[in-house]
Amino acid sequence: MGLSANFEIRPAREADLPGIHRIYNDAILTGTATWDEAPWPFSRRELWWNDHVTDATTPVFVAIRAGAVVGFSYLSWYRQKSGYRFTREDTIYVDPAVHRMGAGRALLAPVVAAARDLGMRNVLAIIESSNVASIELHRGFGFQPVGTLHEVGFKFGRWLDSTTMELLLPGPR
Ligand SMILES: CC(C)(COP(=O)(O)OP(=O)(O)OC[C@H]1O[C@@H](n2cnc3c(N)ncnc32)[C@H](O)[C@@H]1OP(=O)(O)O)[C@@H](O)C(=O)NCCC(=O)NCCS
Repeated sequence: MGLSANFEIRPAREADLPGIHRIYNDAILTGTATWDEAPWPFSRRELWWNDHVTDATTPVFVAIRAGAVVGFSYLSWYRQKSGYRFTREDTIYVDPAVHRMGAGRALLAPVVAAARDLGMRNVLAIIESSNVASIELHRGFGFQPVGTLHEVGFKFGRWLDSTTMELLLPGPR
């Protein structure tokens, strides 16, 4: 689908799940980007995959480098109620070994393009407030901060704030 300077970006396949699983479980144990605290069992990742492949409005993308998954991104429903059908939330994780090499930008681009093509009206990014990398990445795509919730999270013995950013798109045609 795309080849940035360092990465191949393409829709995810089931064979990519172990790579996605590894990156996400590492993020759980090492940081506050996700507020999960216990690693997922692989079975949960398989259920997640089934949900995403059976819904054309929640695509998943991977970044590949030297044959290995080094990042992933996807769209998910913000809330399940049908009135939210023109809103999606994006998620993006890159292996720390390749941070700041362009994978994040390369993975966010197809997610935003997909949301636009799907006729979404708003894409939300819900970001731990000290996560400058994610906030700046999203800002570069035109996402605007719309508000902060204070101390809604607690991990590694401290309270965490959540900043929501939004990107308004043309919406349904
Ligand atoms: C956020 C994340 C996906 C960025 O991925 P990345 O591959 O390192 O980002 P890129 O190299 O594509 O950088 C794109 C832009 O993002 C911003 N950015 C990335 N890392 C940054 C940092 N550490 N500090 C400030 N800005 C940063 C910059 O604007 C950068 O552009 P530039 O390099 O031209 O200045 C990555 O840091 C990550 O996976 N973090 C852990 C998980 C996470 O936070 N996910 C988001 C949850 S909301």
